[in-house]
Amino acid sequence: MLKEHATLSSEKVSVESHRLPEAPLSSQLVRVTAAFARSAIPVSDMTNHYTLAQDEQSVMRLRAMADSAIGFERPAWRDAGVGPGSRVLEVGCGPGALLGELAMLVGASGEAVGIDTSAEAISEARSYLRRRGLSQVRVKVADGFDSGLEPESFDSAYLRLVLVHVGERAAELLRAVRELVRPGGTIVLSDGDHTSTGISGDVPEFEELMNAWKAMMSHRGNDLRIGLHLPRIAADAGLQVVSFRGHMNIIEPDVPFRMPHWEARKAIVTDETATAADLCRWEPLVEHYAASRPFYTCFPSYTVIARRL
Ligand SMILES: C[S@@+](CC[C@H](N)C(=O)[O-])C[C@H]1O[C@@H](n2cnc3c(N)ncnc32)[C@H](O)[C@@H]1O
Repeated sequence: MLKEHATLSSEKVSVESHRLPEAPLSSQLVRVTAAFARSAIPVSDMTNHYTLAQDEQSVMRLRAMADSAIGFERPAWRDAGVGPGSRVLEVGCGPGALLGELAMLVGASGEAVGIDTSAEAISEARSYLRRRGLSQVRVKVADGFDSGLEPESFDSAYLRLVLVHVGERAAELLRAVRELVRPGGTIVLSDGDHTSTGISGDVPEFEELMNAWKAMMSHRGNDLRIGLHLPRIAADAGLQVVSFRGHMNIIEPDVPFRMPHWEARKAIVTDETATAADLCRWEPLVEHYAASRPFYTCFPSYTVIARRL
């Protein structure tokens, strides 16, 4: 059973699938585009909204990415002082792949807490962590900007692939997280240079898809090169930068792997950086390469360890 903390209720998680219905993609997209048009949300209000799907395929992808990253994330956690007995927070924990590893590191005498704005992700994380039999971990649906967690109650915090999704509010989010960490505690930030993602095949359509994704993300004010800017963002949030390191993340999945760019296809069509017809053209290739081997996705990733003074 997951341990519940007094400040965290075991709230009922309503799980609502965001998966597209089983219908031809072209007709799905007509409906999706029409639904967005009807919702008439001004683009300014949609800026910073998380654009990736939260479904089974996304869970598989995030786990495959976490597997490829753990070899360089774990040493960063250790260098940040995370170890047996630590109390550590992951903001934007998604389906919990790395949170489980953090929980292993802090051990039975410590505690790992994961928060995410997505009820689907938290529901998935909760059952995944339960399956792993980890009792020193708990999860909660909460927004990192205003989590309701107790100030200065964590030794360390961790954010991976979250700041790229919050547009110009990265330093603001980090300031909110800083308040949750005790003075002298640490924050580990990990993110990529998303302009340099590459694939091991020569598939022009994938380049088109990635370009449409980049245009959509930029349109929403997200910083695609955020990994390179992590030291500045940490300093802007009033943190002392202890170290900055980088590595090439090469993902060699053992499950069908669709690019995150593909997961963001609804937003790509909404922002008109590609058309529904483009998606129909790209879909067979995405499906083909999701399962073909060898096929690698590579992206440069950067990690900052920062300290709250
Ligand atoms: C790309 S996923 C990364 C998940 C996990 N950190 C990993 O590396 O596997 C980003 C996650 O951040 C969450 N997220 C985005 N903005 C957030 C916020 N303001 N507060 C909490 N979670 C947020 C999203 O819902 C999503 O699950």
